[in-house]
Amino acid sequence: MTDHVRVALDSGVLTLTLARPEKKNALSNAMYEVLVREMKRAETDPAVRVVLFQAEGDTFTAGNDIMDFAAAATGAAKPRESLGASPFLQALAHATKPYVAAVQGRAVGVGTTMLLHCDVVVIAEEAQLTTPFVNLALVPEAASTWLMPARIGYARAYAMFALGQPVDGKTAVQIGIATAAVPAAEVQKRALEAARVLATKPAGALKTTKQLMRDAAAIVAVMEREGAEFAKRLKSPEAMEAFRAFTERRPPDFTKVG
Ligand code: COA
Repeated sequence: MTDHVRVALDSGVLTLTLARPEKKNALSNAMYEVLVREMKRAETDPAVRVVLFQAEGDTFTAGNDIMDFAAAATGAAKPRESLGASPFLQALAHATKPYVAAVQGRAVGVGTTMLLHCDVVVIAEEAQLTTPFVNLALVPEAASTWLMPARIGYARAYAMFALGQPVDGKTAVQIGIATAAVPAAEVQKRALEAARVLATKPAGALKTTKQLMRDAAAIVAVMEREGAEFAKRLKSPEAMEAFRAFTERRPPDFTKVG
């Protein structure tokens, strides 16, 4: 387990804080394990009425830990670790309680696609959402190949996925990825306020509304298709080059790898 995720339950709000600011809150396998454990608990524990994701430091999250990607790609990871984000994505797909996210800075990769599964997203005006999956020679996940174009249109989604084009907080609200854009210093306060309001609502009606609004089975089916492709891409020479380039702090050169 890890202390890179802090867990607190107060007045029906289960707050999960990403607390690895020295690595820009990159999500390690150990962090996913804690998140999944708490999300499963949230489903069954009546004391939890709302789940709130937030993060320490200037970045919401730099996405999946690229060292863990590299370990999974080379077979260095233990079988349980090589599951990576998958159980986390499944837990998001099956969540029935309200999820709120406080995005105070950059959200990369899964940091952005997880927001498609949150019901209220409070974002800093200057935050930057990026999904540079193709830049890492990977493919999008979290059912985002379906959910993102459905939300924001194909052209914008393709620009995010294939070109790695960022979306700022204000734009994220305009195009329907986020609920409210506020100054960075107010993000966590405003998200907590929203979570507290949701915690006072009738839980049964909230649950059914969410279930009616989201086709969980269809989401899982897309995640499975993406996951199979993602696993293949992860082991590709292109992806190896992308991970090496990240560790060596240089731009990747995909022209030499087919
Ligand atoms: N996985 C592992 N480590 C990461 C990471 C990631 N996704 N993102 C950042 N880090 C680490 C860096 O290696 C660095 O570690 P070090 O201090 O030991 O060298 C530390 O976090 C700080 O990151 P740094 O790159 O110096 O910060 P920055 O402010 O210059 O840039 C980002 C921040 C988020 C723009 C940049 O770190 C980045 O692009 N990260 C990769 C994001 C990504 O591609 N994620 C996967 C998406 S599918």
